[in-house]
Amino acid sequence: MGKKIILTGDRPTGRLHVGHYVGSLRRRVELQNSGGFDDIFIMIADAQALTDNAEHPEKVRQNIAQVALDYISCGLDPEKSCLFIQSQVPELTELSFYYMNLVTVSRLQRNPTVKAEIQMRNFETSIPVGFFTYPISQAADITAFRATTVPVGEDQEPMIEQTREIVRKFNSVYGHTLTEPEILLPDNAACLRLPGTDGKAKMSKSLGNCIYLSDSEEEIKSKVMMMFTDPDHLKVSDPGKTEGNPVFTYLDAFCTQAHIEEFAPEYGSLEEMKEHYRRGGLGDMKVKRLLNSVLQTTLAPIRARRTELEKDISYIRDVLKKGSEKAEETAAKTLADVKRAMKINYFEEGSEF
Ligand code: TRP
Repeated sequence: MGKKIILTGDRPTGRLHVGHYVGSLRRRVELQNSGGFDDIFIMIADAQALTDNAEHPEKVRQNIAQVALDYISCGLDPEKSCLFIQSQVPELTELSFYYMNLVTVSRLQRNPTVKAEIQMRNFETSIPVGFFTYPISQAADITAFRATTVPVGEDQEPMIEQTREIVRKFNSVYGHTLTEPEILLPDNAACLRLPGTDGKAKMSKSLGNCIYLSDSEEEIKSKVMMMFTDPDHLKVSDPGKTEGNPVFTYLDAFCTQAHIEEFAPEYGSLEEMKEHYRRGGLGDMKVKRLLNSVLQTTLAPIRARRTELEKDISYIRDVLKKGSEKAEETAAKTLADVKRAMKINYFEEGSEF
């Protein structure tokens, strides 16, 4: 049986928010604690973050520790998962350079996530080359660790598909060397794409519609109370829509049966509460109060751990340094295999010249 290995990561461009939590972080912690994997690598993708932040290196730099704090406070355990910084593993850049020969410009131009990002950043007429090619570097990230499983959000699907194509191409040209990874998506539709508190499709710092894992109790409460709901649900007695109503989408993502029993025992289940809202007679405030209780219960222990960890940043630095060393060892082995397969290992012991 082959090994089961996880590789995933995030760009350090800001603190992580509840969309990251339900979309990927919570799952990573479960996978880590399931004991079902031989190795878990969690990467802070600073080099990738620089592909569209070349002029803001300080922002990227400062958020490395923030993301690491978010990781560990959510339950990622440095004893069980290798946490590392992308730029500290130079083998990844070398792999990317060889993979670039296996991908066409037109293939990159078809990547829907990159297309959307180009639009969002007004890059249309001036796309940085590094940004344009980041799906190739992401293939290097994944294959360097021989990852079999990549737990990510839906927006990363095109990157995993691109990686699989590179792996197949490499293996067919140079002989079987690389491992083809599989994507692991959230199993709940609400977690797949948690909207912003304003109901917009994506949470983003620039839109100011995020609830951060590090938000205080008051910040969470005021953001929940300002959340968009069904715009046609004006009076409590009006029938309301639960579909596409961000407050209910958040409940779908966060609320467990135990939460209903604790905070809304007059309902047998979340579904019963939704039926009441759809019939009419259930006010937005009451639904928001439930969501607030659920979020507070979920986020309070994470915030408490974060506050503790913030007192010892040298511990975080140590974790990332050790993790980066281990990650480099692993990536170096794969790079050696790649160069051997490509027969560019001229001076290696036993290779013919
Ligand atoms: N693209 C991911 C993001 O936007 C970060 C990332 C870089 C990543 N390399 C990866 C995710 C490899 C999974 C696997 O957050």
